[in-house]
Amino acid sequence: AKKAVLGPLVGAVDQGTSSTRFLVFNSKTAELLSHHQVEIKQEFPREGWVEQDPKEILQSVYECIEKTCEKLGQLNIDISNIKAIGVSNQRETTVVWDKLTGEPLYNAVAAPVSPGPSDPVAVVRSGSSVPAAGTSSVWLDLRTQSTVENLSKRIPGNNNFVKSKTGLPLSTYFSAVKLRWLLDNVRKVQRAVEEDRALFGTIDSWLIWSLTGGAHGGVHCTDVTNASRTMLFNIHSLEWDKELCEFFEIPMKILPNVRSSSEIYGLMKAGALEGVPISGCLGDQSAALVGQMCFQDGQAKNTYGTGCFLLCNTGRKCVFSEHGLLTTVAYKLGRDKPVYYALEGSVAIAGAVIRWLRDNLGIIKTSEEIEKLAKEVGTSYGCYFVPAFSGLYAPYWEPSARGIICGLTQFTNKCHIAFAALEAVCFQTREILDAMNRDCGIPLSHLQVDGGMTNNKILMQLQADILYIPVVKPSMPETTALGAAMAAGAAEGVGVWSLEPEDLSAVTMERFEPQINAEESEIRYSTWKKAVMKSVGWVT
Ligand code: G3P
Repeated sequence: AKKAVLGPLVGAVDQGTSSTRFLVFNSKTAELLSHHQVEIKQEFPREGWVEQDPKEILQSVYECIEKTCEKLGQLNIDISNIKAIGVSNQRETTVVWDKLTGEPLYNAVAAPVSPGPSDPVAVVRSGSSVPAAGTSSVWLDLRTQSTVENLSKRIPGNNNFVKSKTGLPLSTYFSAVKLRWLLDNVRKVQRAVEEDRALFGTIDSWLIWSLTGGAHGGVHCTDVTNASRTMLFNIHSLEWDKELCEFFEIPMKILPNVRSSSEIYGLMKAGALEGVPISGCLGDQSAALVGQMCFQDGQAKNTYGTGCFLLCNTGRKCVFSEHGLLTTVAYKLGRDKPVYYALEGSVAIAGAVIRWLRDNLGIIKTSEEIEKLAKEVGTSYGCYFVPAFSGLYAPYWEPSARGIICGLTQFTNKCHIAFAALEAVCFQTREILDAMNRDCGIPLSHLQVDGGMTNNKILMQLQADILYIPVVKPSMPETTALGAAMAAGAAEGVGVWSLEPEDLSAVTMERFEPQINAEESEIRYSTWKKAVMKSVGWVT
């Protein structure tokens, strides 16, 4: 059959904590033409540790690209129309690899080992075990709690030292402390640094370096948005900060080059899309902001993924929060384009609570089943679920919190717990929105939402009820990938995407209005806050 002729196409890798996707869009309409998704394993080798295998992540990217191209072939779409590729990724997750071999630099030891000179791969300083073969430390990982405590005792000057430069609180969440942990605990990493073989990167750097040739000429770079989540990056000067690197004792030679979010970084070195430029790179939350076209001061979006991330564009100025939000780089769409900033509220556990109900409790077989269970009862029957598995992020930043389910009676069943899990996602978003409104002064009139979970209609209605403002969702929830594709397509030397609203004609909007009365909404929210207080202080 004759191959269909379309306008220029742009592909996007969306590498998240739970899965990897590759999606191909028509740059004239933003229509999603084809995609493929692969779930990613998460290892929990110890309480509080979360790891992933960087090679599995890379493999999943190749697999998604190949499968998507096959699907396009079945649709008679010529893959030579793909003019650029964008990368969006889970942020903060930390990889160190060997630039000569291309191998991630963790020890090939799966089980905890005790330190000792006879063991060539043993722990060196802290006495904790080394991670399993080829792992990366994921953003949710809590192993650096004591690293953070020790660092916080020796912050130079005032407590604002880290925050004023990076916009971030000193927390286990960000890459610098994960990297510090690796340098302290993994001998292979130390040796590679000494021998000038080590490279550090967040997932974007690892992927771009590998996809552009790896040990054979791979480009070691990151973009300003991903860099702004490492806690080593000065968000004012847009450079790695020497004082921060000294404070965290990070050798600057292992850091990637920082580039804008939209420029040609290099060409795909292998696979079906060999030779196609990689020309967009954004941390997933920034990518979603771009995909939702939140280009104006005061525009905000909330993405429901493993966690929930509400970002509000604050324009060309850095706004520092008084209410527990982060200041972060929103995007810089071109080498000579200005940088935009955002205030961000992050909830650690959103979609992850559904995964937990599926994998740990087994009360659902697929994530989609949660909607059916919740619908059966339409209420949590007074049950509240605070999924503080990794402590609480914004606005509390409370590492001592742990998950609780409370308000149980003999009547409570799995449907109520399912409902309470969905409500928890909405209550956490409300807490962030309240903080955002207080920091920005002008309350948001509606919330733009995206991410896989927004397909759940019960969740969307609950969200409108609990926020008590309308929730607006695009017909195509893959806004993260769309943002990365837009950045890639708009890059100098590619020029197939104009970033104007008319290039998104295939995306329509659905609105959810609050349906309960304001008093009921407030009562439920204040009971939630009581439950949150009970989750704090479980770990000392
Ligand atoms: O900050 C972490 C965030 O980027 C992870 O995103 O896609 O895994 O929910 P995701």
